[in-house]
Amino acid sequence: MTVHFIGAGPGAADLITLRGRDLIASCPVCLYAGSLVPEALLLHCPPGARIVNTAPLSLDEIIAEIASAHAAGQDVARLHSGDLSVWSAMGEQLRRLRALCIPYDVTPGVPSFAAAAAALGAELTLPGVAQSVVLTRTSGRATSMPVGENLAAFAATGATLAIHLSVHVLDQVIADLTPHYGADCPVAVVWRASWPDQRIVRATLSSLQTSIGAEMERTALILVGRALAAEGFEESRLYAGDYDRRYRPVGTAPRFSEVT
Ligand SMILES: C[S@@+](CC[C@H](N)C(=O)[O-])C[C@H]1O[C@@H](n2cnc3c(N)ncnc32)[C@H](O)[C@@H]1O
Repeated sequence: MTVHFIGAGPGAADLITLRGRDLIASCPVCLYAGSLVPEALLLHCPPGARIVNTAPLSLDEIIAEIASAHAAGQDVARLHSGDLSVWSAMGEQLRRLRALCIPYDVTPGVPSFAAAAAALGAELTLPGVAQSVVLTRTSGRATSMPVGENLAAFAATGATLAIHLSVHVLDQVIADLTPHYGADCPVAVVWRASWPDQRIVRATLSSLQTSIGAEMERTALILVGRALAAEGFEESRLYAGDYDRRYRPVGTAPRFSEVT
């Protein structure tokens, strides 16, 4: 018996890995975080599967569900939105499972920042503009930020920021970032990236609040940085004609069988 933690992706039902889909299909028990995991994914569950929305459950109750499947020798598909490496609450579940000697594995998913960048048609790391992406958030009711992890500190690097769980404190985000990025810095907010009702607002730090209006939906990412609207960036050296590299030594014609 194994608990398969599976990244369910950002929302579109076909943005899940083949491995994730096949694991769902193989498990007689499926626990899913109902607030963000698309219900269409549950169609992959086998007939008669026990399907439990864990949104209203406590950690103790979730572990009790898993322990009962373990006692019955039944594999569990455990679905969380996006990827499991960020803000999934997977860590505390894994710690409990280790204590109970219940086996588990982890299958990654498409994170929401990648879906938001795709919706914008944007590369977040452009040569000479930004070479780092900071995945971060602001303090919430249930989670405070560790000392030193604050927007001003990240903004001081000039990296592209992907700010989660924070659209409800947009005023504060803009106030913290403007001194570092400048009022004309490009910013985009993507609500429900990849869902059918996805919405995008592009603006600058100074015009964002006006462009957004009274939007209430909280499932949104704020992306900030010069890379979002840069046109005058350098081309990558990797593909420059005079750049000597292992797969394309200078002076040789490209071969169609080569993979970059
Ligand atoms: C609890 S975190 C989950 C993050 C998730 N594990 C991931 O890989 O993106 C929820 C936050 O992620 C962001 N988010 C999740 N899905 C999103 C989507 N489809 N579009 C925009 N933001 C999304 C929002 O900032 C939301 O408040």
